[in-house]
Amino acid sequence: MKKTLLFLLMSMSLMAAQVALTDFEGVDEYLCLDMDNLDNYANPTFPVHYGPPVFAAFDNTPADNAVTDKGATLGRVLFYDKQLSINNTVACASCHMQALGFTDTAALSTGFDGVGLTGAHSMRLGNARFYPDSVMFWDKRAADLEAQSTQPIQNEVEMGYDAAHGGFDTLIPKLNALPYYPELFEFVYGDTIITEERIQLALAQFIRSMVSVNSKFDTGFAAVFNPQQPGANIGANFPNFTAQENRGKTLFLAAPNNGGAGCAGCHAPPTFGLNTNVNSNGLDAGETIIFKSPSLKNIALGGTFMHDGRFTTLAEVVEHYNSGVQVGPATDARLLLPPGGPGGPQPIRLNLVAADKAALVAFLQTLTDNVLIADAKFSDPFCKTATGIKEVANGFDLQVYPNPVQNAATIRFANPNASTYRLSLTDLSGRTVWQQANNTSEAQLHTDGLATGLYILVIEGNGNKETRKLIVE
Ligand code: HEC
Ligand code: HEC
Repeated sequence: MKKTLLFLLMSMSLMAAQVALTDFEGVDEYLCLDMDNLDNYANPTFPVHYGPPVFAAFDNTPADNAVTDKGATLGRVLFYDKQLSINNTVACASCHMQALGFTDTAALSTGFDGVGLTGAHSMRLGNARFYPDSVMFWDKRAADLEAQSTQPIQNEVEMGYDAAHGGFDTLIPKLNALPYYPELFEFVYGDTIITEERIQLALAQFIRSMVSVNSKFDTGFAAVFNPQQPGANIGANFPNFTAQENRGKTLFLAAPNNGGAGCAGCHAPPTFGLNTNVNSNGLDAGETIIFKSPSLKNIALGGTFMHDGRFTTLAEVVEHYNSGVQVGPATDARLLLPPGGPGGPQPIRLNLVAADKAALVAFLQTLTDNVLIADAKFSDPFCKTATGIKEVANGFDLQVYPNPVQNAATIRFANPNASTYRLSLTDLSGRTVWQQANNTSEAQLHTDGLATGLYILVIEGNGNKETRKLIVE
């Protein structure tokens, strides 16, 4: 992006245009962002079944931190920046991967040192905005998304800027020295000052913008939506659902005393955020901690379920509610039989037949939102990181024979669709010393005229990029 002219309409009555010169040299060098034409985070399109009552009941956006395109763009950069970890190895996105609905597959995630494990399973972030109680983390220990968002940075396992390592007093000068942050903070806040609070506001905006409104469930609900009917007609058969999925929906929605499994009493459609006043779901006998659940949108993607990641299939999850609920001080009354019987509180046993258990699993799979998990505005914005060229695991399978290279080398890479990729060789000062366009799966590199030493071989195209270090002898 070139130096930009931003025409600001200062006053409707005067219609006077004022010119502001904005220079984004650092942003342009490191980030693939179009600062003149930001992605739309502030005003996503909501389907009909996301009317005012849904916002009134679920939205936790605070009045002083509504999502803006600028703030969420800064949040996106922070979310993907490994510089927020003490050894530049881990970003928020390392444990909250877009393709998985912003969680990861491991029961417990690995922190910055590659060894330490988090104390709990990573949480999906889609529809975090629609959790009416606002509190964050499984055990609800953070007051809201703002307060939560900088805790991983200061966690001794996750990103390593804990008090013993200087916390934000060490991190902020580091961020100040990165060429893109002063520019971005000025763009968002009007001056270059970086504070923990400003980081929190931006990260929370980015996460709140991750709304999930494009699953198969949403398409079906929009098709039958009728505000005059009970539940806005959610109980009607969805035309895009199979009979099994519609059966699963019925079971999910209906209470146990009404032939259902009672799931919606806690995981509330259409956001699938947890209702207010929900206690724990009886995973362990005697449990005293009241856990929350993130929205069930995209639940089928991560393959690991509950706060400790104890279940690895949705069938196990359903079986827990069917036959495994344990009694404890934190167990929600909805999962217990009505009080009064002998021997104290007893757990509900749903006694679902196999077909109904399978139907519930099929219904949970309709909550996958393929738009959210592929939307470019939630993807990694870095073109190049401050510690080197960005590595993307994308299946190029780039190989060089031989390496070290003497006179010539053969470069091989996967290219099943005969796409055109650009191959280039850069030296350590970033100068391109060789390049070619290639639509096969092999290239020859002649090193005549190249100084001995370390080079970076880059293959890129179709938004993918892969690099290899190469030694010329
Ligand atoms: C090393 C892995 C890891 C990293 C890095 C990480 N997280 Fe998390 N995240 C987790 C885990 C694990 C949990 C659940 C922790 C708990 O409840 O104790 C979590 C929970 C959350 C939640 C709570 C969601 C909810 O519904 O309550 C949010 C929001 C979140 N992370 C955002 C972030 C942000 C923002 C960053 C970067 C600043 C980040 N995470 C970095 C693993 C990670
Ligand atoms: C009494 C409220 C309640 C009811 C009823 C309920 N759940 Fe849950 N659910 C929770 C809570 C709380 C958690 C978080 C548990 C934890 O990890 O400690 C949870 C977790 C889950 C998870 C795992 C979420 C994740 O991110 O790993 C799934 C899936 C789930 N519930 C599905 C269902 C289904 C299906 C039903 C109906 C058969 C159901 N729930 C009924 C409260 C409830």
